[in-house]
Amino acid sequence: VAAGCAPKSAAPGGDSAQSGNQKEYVVGTDASYAPFESVDSKTQQVVGFDIDVVKAIAEKEGMKVKFVNTPWDGIFAALNNGERDFLVSAITITDERKKTMDFSDKYFEATQMIVSKDGSVKTLNDLKGKKIGVQNGTTGDTIVTDFLGKDYKGIKRYDSMPLALEALKNGDVDVAVGDNGVVIDYVKNNKADNLHTAIDPKFPKEYYGLAVKKGNTELLNKLNDGIKKINEDGTYKKIYDKYFGQ
Ligand code: ARG
Repeated sequence: VAAGCAPKSAAPGGDSAQSGNQKEYVVGTDASYAPFESVDSKTQQVVGFDIDVVKAIAEKEGMKVKFVNTPWDGIFAALNNGERDFLVSAITITDERKKTMDFSDKYFEATQMIVSKDGSVKTLNDLKGKKIGVQNGTTGDTIVTDFLGKDYKGIKRYDSMPLALEALKNGDVDVAVGDNGVVIDYVKNNKADNLHTAIDPKFPKEYYGLAVKKGNTELLNKLNDGIKKINEDGTYKKIYDKYFGQ
């Protein structure tokens, strides 16, 4: 079978690396989340920490993977209806999400971060009375909404994190709240804007996991085995240092 001609799903019991019609796993990712996942402006390829982690796991497990850029809104639906085999998207493992999907072992620790122009907003409490930009349906959205209440009018929910950060730049919102890695990356790349960051000590630790369709233990076991292997042989550390080392 010529490359690219493999049928969509492997023959029964035949999705091993040796198989002629090797299954290609379709990996959904909202690639607007540098440095975890973004589209390289030159090559148009999806790149980033998450992408390198999944490629490394796939190599260990003899899996063929294809990344498909998938808007955050609808990313879980695409997993559920089988359009994607698994997701990598800086996805925080939460009890709520565990009801509708299964998660791999954690592969990254994160927390929420507040970013503002003047640095006056440092805690959840300081958010009161402010206009706040978040990415719709993320843990940042949940934390802010839980604290200020569903009826609080000042929460602006954007389809992507870059849109929330742009709103901060334009003055459409006073602050933005998002995952620390992404906020730090943005602040670093927009030095001229002189942005200030803060973490409320009350923000919980969050852990990223790969998401598979509920009950897909075969794939989950493979991914967990890969995560274990890249941790043990130093591959994970290399990738981590490439993106987060100084
Ligand atoms: N960690 C946060 C969450 O799981 C934000 C993830 C957003 N990821 C993305 N690629 N846009 O809710």
